[in-house]
Amino acid sequence: MYSPISRAAREARAYGWRSSPVRLIGADPSAAGLLAARTRARAVGLADRSRFHQGTFEQTNLPDGAVDAAMSVDAFQYAPDKGAALAEFFRILRPGGRVSIIAFEVDPAKVAGVPVVGVDPIPNYVPLFEAAGFDVEAYEETPGWRERANAAFGAIVDASDTLTAEMGERAVAVAEAMLTVQMQPYPRRALAVARRPG
Ligand SMILES: C[S@@+](CC[C@H](N)C(=O)[O-])C[C@H]1O[C@@H](n2cnc3c(N)ncnc32)[C@H](O)[C@@H]1O
Repeated sequence: MYSPISRAAREARAYGWRSSPVRLIGADPSAAGLLAARTRARAVGLADRSRFHQGTFEQTNLPDGAVDAAMSVDAFQYAPDKGAALAEFFRILRPGGRVSIIAFEVDPAKVAGVPVVGVDPIPNYVPLFEAAGFDVEAYEETPGWRERANAAFGAIVDASDTLTAEMGERAVAVAEAMLTVQMQPYPRRALAVARRPG
């Protein structure tokens, strides 16, 4: 299982976070997500340089210009209003700051009426970044994503009876996994890097 915190820790270490004032602020709407992030931060030695609070893409609960850089991994496709979410990234970044997002592009024709990924599906994020005022510096497909996504979602499908018994209607991931395996609604998994001019 991959973890954005260990990835962030690796990147921060490469830039010398032990001797620099780099700080990590994480926001997620889910209490379980926040608990997992805090646990992971402790495990990789980032506890004293990180904090996590409840928030969404559209409402991060951070002040204007609060961060030098922002990132999101495998979550942005769930934002119910991607335009509002990018406006929020723009607001919290200092001028000249960058946002990096890894997210599935979503084929609107395949997810019509589907909860969560069917709300505001975006097949290409570039025009959305530009409309929000960003300069897009990179936009590319991440290598090997389809095999890994099929393996991960396939494992969830295989465990779907157990997960549904344990979680009931909260097992949204089961529905997404079944949709992903059967209908392949994600044309690509994209890495975008964009800069707030300034
Ligand atoms: C597949 S997980 C990815 C978590 C983590 N970034 C990772 O790579 O392990 C998707 C995350 O998106 C969060 N999420 C869902 N809707 C969101 C929203 N509107 N704003 C912010 N986060 C959201 C979920 O709570 C969940 O933690």
